[in-house]
Amino acid sequence: MTSERLNLKIAERHEEPGNILRLRLARADGAPLPKSDAGAHLDLRLKDGSLDLWRQYSLCSDPAETGFYEIGVLLDPKTRGGSAAVHRLARPGVVFEVEGPRNHFPLAETAEKTVLFGGGIGITPMLAMARRLHALGRDFVLHYCTRSRAVTAFQEIIVDAPWADRVVFHFDDQPTEQRLDLNRDLPAPSATTHLYVCGPQGFMDWVISGAEAAGHLPANVHREYFSADVDTSGEGFEVEARRSGITVTVGPEDTIAKALARAGVKVEVKCEEGVCGTCVTDVLEGTPDHRDKFLTDDEREEGTMICACCSRSCSSKLVLDV
Ligand code: FES
Repeated sequence: MTSERLNLKIAERHEEPGNILRLRLARADGAPLPKSDAGAHLDLRLKDGSLDLWRQYSLCSDPAETGFYEIGVLLDPKTRGGSAAVHRLARPGVVFEVEGPRNHFPLAETAEKTVLFGGGIGITPMLAMARRLHALGRDFVLHYCTRSRAVTAFQEIIVDAPWADRVVFHFDDQPTEQRLDLNRDLPAPSATTHLYVCGPQGFMDWVISGAEAAGHLPANVHREYFSADVDTSGEGFEVEARRSGITVTVGPEDTIAKALARAGVKVEVKCEEGVCGTCVTDVLEGTPDHRDKFLTDDEREEGTMICACCSRSCSSKLVLDV
């Protein structure tokens, strides 16, 4: 997929329920944007005084749309600065540096049946997927779970969509039978049925473990974490940056990326919590202790890649291709 650096202006800003901003980004000259695929995200650079962060936001707009990209941004009470900066800075006409679109959450477009599970702000990639699946004429259902109808973003867009009858809303403050029930709402496992899950970590872990316990193939249970509680602590170990000819010690509360940066070896990082994949680095020797939510189970088992922003080492030394 195309991935380039763009300067995009905020074309529209809408306040959705639940402290969610819906933002439309477009080129200042109105020229077409790079094509996106369902599940793709944009990286936004947030610069404000001493703040200089990159954060990732899923596209919720129709992948066929090239006039604008649309994202949803929750004002997260646990923000490390990113979501608050978007809410503060993203006014119509303001220009943001953007990279992407990139897609780490691609849709299996030939699946016979697709079930989408969006929890809270995790609805955003599901909207793009629902639009794409509808355009392809595929069989799909979207389960959208929130705390209550009053805090449910994108309701107007969903009820007006030509695929509105595919959406089942579940509100936590409703009677039990209207809440998401995995025994009832998971489809029967099959090699041609694919599930997609996005939302808060507890919601995702619950749906994913329920799906796998029900017999769904792990490879057919697709997930995208927006953020994760990542534990980066542990015993110290050594990291050799072989191409740079430098060896550093990663202390108990340290990370590989920070230890290398102090020695002048730059590994690019963005989310710093193991969800975006920016810092993935090749492992030449040693056994990684994976702490991220980005690599697949197969990639973890192979042990040839590591997220340098958060993962550690099971062996006393790791050799990386940096
Ligand atoms: S910087 Fe995002 S996964 Fe490491």
